[in-house]
Amino acid sequence: MPDPVRVIAVTSGKGGVGKTNVSVNLAASLALAGREVMLMDADLGLANVDVLLGLEPEFDLQHVISGDKTLDEVIVPGPLGIHVVPASSGVERMAELTSVEHASLISAFSALEQPIDVLIVDTAAGIAEGVVSFAKACQEVIVVVCDEPTSLTHAYALIKVLSSRHGVKQFQILANMVQDESQGLNLYEKLLNTTDRFLEVGLKYLGTVPFDEQLRRAVRSQKPVVEAYPRSPASKSLNRICEKIERWPMPDQATGYLQFFVERLLAAATPVPKVAGAE
Ligand SMILES: Nc1ncnc2c1ncn2[C@@H]1O[C@H](COP(=O)(O)OP(=O)(O)OP(=O)(O)O)[C@@H](O)[C@H]1O
Ligand SMILES: [Mg+2]
Repeated sequence: MPDPVRVIAVTSGKGGVGKTNVSVNLAASLALAGREVMLMDADLGLANVDVLLGLEPEFDLQHVISGDKTLDEVIVPGPLGIHVVPASSGVERMAELTSVEHASLISAFSALEQPIDVLIVDTAAGIAEGVVSFAKACQEVIVVVCDEPTSLTHAYALIKVLSSRHGVKQFQILANMVQDESQGLNLYEKLLNTTDRFLEVGLKYLGTVPFDEQLRRAVRSQKPVVEAYPRSPASKSLNRICEKIERWPMPDQATGYLQFFVERLLAAATPVPKVAGAE
């Protein structure tokens, strides 16, 4: 049996806080550390990963769902050997897939030839059904925040929905685009104060990525900053965060395979009946 796969969602309450950059760079940093990394673009409105990495995907998960392509044929090779799964409108209609389409998606993931160590899922912002399904199906959820009041209030709203309606109880908070670590910690503590008062969740501080002009320069050259400017402040922080991720306990065999992630995703996409008092 291959080793289990870490499956990590990168999400946020508010848009534009840096999810895609965090996803791409965590993927790149883990790849630099020798991991086989799959990066799934689950932001269906605005496909971003391919643009950030200068890729031009021809196919996507829709072709896997319809049985026209294998997952290996859809995956685009990214920098540092990252396996990129392009965004797909097929995912938007996850909840409506037929049982045959379910089966082809699950078997496509179990038939993947390349063993994967880590899957990073870059989601859209907010509490739309699609975002919630992805976060729920992953083993770990990273919530990216930045120093804007709406970023924190929307992060709180997302955590509230995921915990009260979907049973997600643990979150990793990453502060992005801040001045320094103390500002990042301060944001984390603000969020923690509110969740501790009103919600039954565990909030962990994952780390801080400073605002960094070199990250912007890397974006313009369509490269991960950890590859283009490895000594920049943002790269150093992102690499430290990766080292932390590598120290997380491994998922157990029963939940840790990609096909189980897809099964959870399909299950999460089926509407959950509202529970009284969950609001
Ligand atoms: N640490 C950083 N330093 C400087 N600029 C950053 C940093 N992180 C992200 N940015 C910039 O912020 C903008 C938004 O980043 P990104 O697209 O990653 O956010 P997002 O959360 O994925 O957005 P969306 O919600 O639209 O998917 C980009 O222009 C990016 O270059
Ligand atoms: Mg994005």
